[in-house]
Order: sequence, then structure tokens, then C-alpha cells
Amino acid sequence: MEPGIAWIIGGGSGIGAAVARLLAKRGWTVAISGRDEAKLAAVASDDPAIRPYPLDVTDAEAGEATTARIAGDLGRIDLFIFGAAAWQPMKVGDYSFDKFNAVVDTNYLGFIRLANPVIRQMQAQGGGHLAVIASVAGYFGLPRSAAYSSTKAALINLLETMRTELRPSGVVVRMIAPGFVKSPLTDKNDFPMPFLMETDDAAERIVDGLTRSDRFEIAFPKRMVWLMKTVRWLPYPVFFWLTGKMVGK
Ligand SMILES: NC(=O)c1ccc[n+]([C@@H]2O[C@H](COP(=O)([O-])OP(=O)(O)OC[C@H]3O[C@@H](n4cnc5c(N)ncnc54)[C@H](OP(=O)(O)O)[C@@H]3O)[C@@H](O)[C@H]2O)c1
Repeated sequence: MEPGIAWIIGGGSGIGAAVARLLAKRGWTVAISGRDEAKLAAVASDDPAIRPYPLDVTDAEAGEATTARIAGDLGRIDLFIFGAAAWQPMKVGDYSFDKFNAVVDTNYLGFIRLANPVIRQMQAQGGGHLAVIASVAGYFGLPRSAAYSSTKAALINLLETMRTELRPSGVVVRMIAPGFVKSPLTDKNDFPMPFLMETDDAAERIVDGLTRSDRFEIAFPKRMVWLMKTVRWLPYPVFFWLTGKMVGK
């Protein structure tokens, strides 16, 4: 993919900010969105090619309006990356509906709200790449991660459907599945995070994966990916024995 116009949701921090900086370094003009205007301004101040467009993905009207604004200001949207996420640890039997709802509303429905206007824009301009940062946590039902893991699984499933349906219109759907990456999201974790990666390293894998091929899945690091995929395909008695070990049962 040649450098063009990218729009990153979640571009004010962590992986999204690192991807924005790297794309800008490689010649892209990058719109970044998130709720916190100060964080967006700080990232935008690093490179004149990065432009802040504050947005809360739980607001459908704002999503439509921001899509139109970016397409108007920058001419088109060649690459859209949805990376907004909320993460809430919750105890089974004590799932707070409000907290669960907030995770679904951001991680999953947040993408759906933006998918419509972005797809329409891409179809009108003759194509584009629509990417979502899911997670290896979406490969199977991860203990102690119910809300987060299930939204990532739903995203992967939805993206598989969309890839098939959108291909003829020139909109290429991409799924990004990182393992553990150092970021404000994982800084909250108090459990061991195997194969933890630096943010810039993750950004490089994402940008290379998106721009140097058309493949659906960009998943890393490989050791984590194969571990998670192997667990996924185990027969259920072995699967539940192993996931039980993860929670000390
Ligand atoms: N770090 C990891 O180990 C890891 C692994 C796999 C996948 N991921 C995924 O990578 C993506 C980026 O996460 P990160 O690790 O870089 O953590 P992060 O820095 O906390 O990124 C999450 C981003 O989502 C934005 N966001 C949250 N709610 C939003 C809303 N309602 N509207 C608009 N933006 C919203 C946040 O910005 P505001 O607060 O300013 O709104 C923030 O920039 C997420 O999708 C995450 O699930 C991360």
C-alpha cells in the first residue's frame, strides 16, 4: 500500500499512538481520534502529518460527522484502524451489567457505529482498507476476561463475515491480533504477561503487516499466537483442564 490518508481510533495513546507516529514517519497523513483531547494534541504535536479529531465511539452521530469531516478535510480515507477499547476485570457471578455494557458499547458496538460511514466513504472513493485491532484474547474464552475477550471474539467473527462481503467493492477488511503489548491498558494488569512486547515493536508489525500485504490476519508475537491457537483447537476436556489451570483450579 502506498502512503495515503489513515484514520486511527484510539490514536491518542498506546498502540494507536505508536502506529500513528510510524505511519506519519512513512509518509502518511494520519487523523487520530479518541475522547481525550489533550492526549490527541500531545501525539499530534510530534508530527505535522498527524491531525487530531476528538471522538467518542459510543456516539453514532458524532461518528458519522467525524467521518465526513475527515473525508472533507483530507480528501479520502485509505486506511481505517479501529483500536478503541475498554477493559474491565469482572468476577463471574458478579458481572456488573453497566460495566459489561460499557465494554461491549466501546469495543464492539463502537466499531459497528463507525463501520457504516467508513464503508460508504471507501466505496464512494473506489476502495480502502478497514482494520480492527482485535486480540489473541478473542481466540477463545479467556478466564477472568469475560467482557473483553468476548467482544474481541465477536469482532473477529464479524470481520470474517465482512471480509467476504466487502471484497468485491474494493474494501479490504483486516484483523489485527496482538498478544501482550506494553500500554496504558496493560499497565493496569497485576498478572504475568508472557511474551510482553514494546509498543513500538507492535506498531512496526502492524504497519508492516497492513502495508506490505493484503492478508486478513496480522497476529503477533508468533509464540503467543500459536499457543493460543493450539489451546483453541484442543478437545474440550483438555481445553477446560488447561484453562482451569490458568485460574488455579
Ligand atoms: N496492549 C495489549 O496488550 C493489547 C493486546 C491485544 C489487543 N490490544 C488492543 O489494542 C488496542 C489499543 O489498546 P492499547 O493497549 O494501546 O491501550 P490504550 O492506550 O488504553 O488504547 C485504548 C484507546 O481506546 C480509546 N478509547 C477508549 N474508549 C473510547 C471511546 N469511547 N471512544 C473513543 N476512543 C476510546 C482510548 O482513548 P481515550 O481514553 O482518549 O478515549 C485509548 O486511546 C485496543 O483495541 C486493545 O484491545 C491491546
